[in-house]
Amino acid sequence: MKINGRPTRTIWLNDDGRTVEVIDQTRLPFAYETLLLQNVEEAAIAIERMVVRGAPLIGATAAYGMALAMADEPSDANLEMASDRLMRTRPTAVNLRWAINRVKSELIDISPKDREASAYKLAARICNEDVEINASIGRNGLEIIKKAATNKPKNAPVNVLTHCNAGWLATVDWGTATSPIYMAHDEGIPVHVWVDETRPRNQGASLTAYELGHHGVPHTVIPDNTGGHLMQHGHVDLVITGTDRTTAAGDVCNKIGTYLKALAAKDNSVPFYVALPSPTIDFALFDGVKDIPIEQRTGDEVSKMTGITEDGSIQTVDIVAEGSPVANYAFDVTPARLVTGLITEAGICDASREGIATLFPDRAGMTD
Ligand code: MRU
Repeated sequence: MKINGRPTRTIWLNDDGRTVEVIDQTRLPFAYETLLLQNVEEAAIAIERMVVRGAPLIGATAAYGMALAMADEPSDANLEMASDRLMRTRPTAVNLRWAINRVKSELIDISPKDREASAYKLAARICNEDVEINASIGRNGLEIIKKAATNKPKNAPVNVLTHCNAGWLATVDWGTATSPIYMAHDEGIPVHVWVDETRPRNQGASLTAYELGHHGVPHTVIPDNTGGHLMQHGHVDLVITGTDRTTAAGDVCNKIGTYLKALAAKDNSVPFYVALPSPTIDFALFDGVKDIPIEQRTGDEVSKMTGITEDGSIQTVDIVAEGSPVANYAFDVTPARLVTGLITEAGICDASREGIATLFPDRAGMTD
């Protein structure tokens, strides 16, 4: 998508054919800066510090992390080391494991001297596939927005509520939840997005609003607690979120607070859709609440807030009473029964074992 009118991806290989560059998302929306990743450790730290984040982009960065490791030392031992190091970075988004295992299983059987070139090729393929998958999600989800538009008065916007950032910044390009929105906007269908700010890290206010703004999509940032009120008053036509891991039975793990939005949507008969690429489906799991590991992050993300002052300096301030303990669960699980449908690259299906198996018959029972 575009930043200041220029088509941009979130991750790319530099002209030296070795180092990788990413948009530093910890600096957005205040500053557009990029960060150079020169080895696997730097790739791992970028994922841990959330310089890059969002399930698909975490997977893409891990794939390039494996390539960087192979450029350093293409031995079996280093393949294992790189895989272990990257696997420890963040526990919830399953795209991480999917990407690492995909690279590892392709490299393990080839001669070490060929591993570097193969790893870079595969990382590039994973990135390009992500873009294609998200474009397909967009085309499939567009039909839902088009249908919602037919139920609205002429020229009234379809109001879509989204949580966190499942936009192009969370992927290589297009985004998942935002892809149908961009396509609707580009086709001239009036669309307006309610953007949950998404405490504690504010991915909605900082990232989703930033990217929608750069693409010219009308949107309004709201505190996380506002969605229920808007739904009660008919101001939300549908909810579309992303996901970090969805079970083979359709339970959806996504940014903390998603579950509460799904409950409010159910109570108000607002359709609640989840947009996801197939690498986000964990075909080995069936009970999301019990089996998906929920990341707990540092309390600083809750007790401090970063912003820009009038003189343009980026500052972090404390916002919690000194000494009060805080908790920071990064994700929650929305049970399949609250999900209207899953928008995937292969089509739209029920959030159920049968629905997912219909779209992905070859993947049932697989672990990554
Ligand atoms: O902690 P984050 O910012 O990595 O969480 C991101 C989300 O929860 C997204 O909704 C999810 O990864 C889907 S991204 C297309």
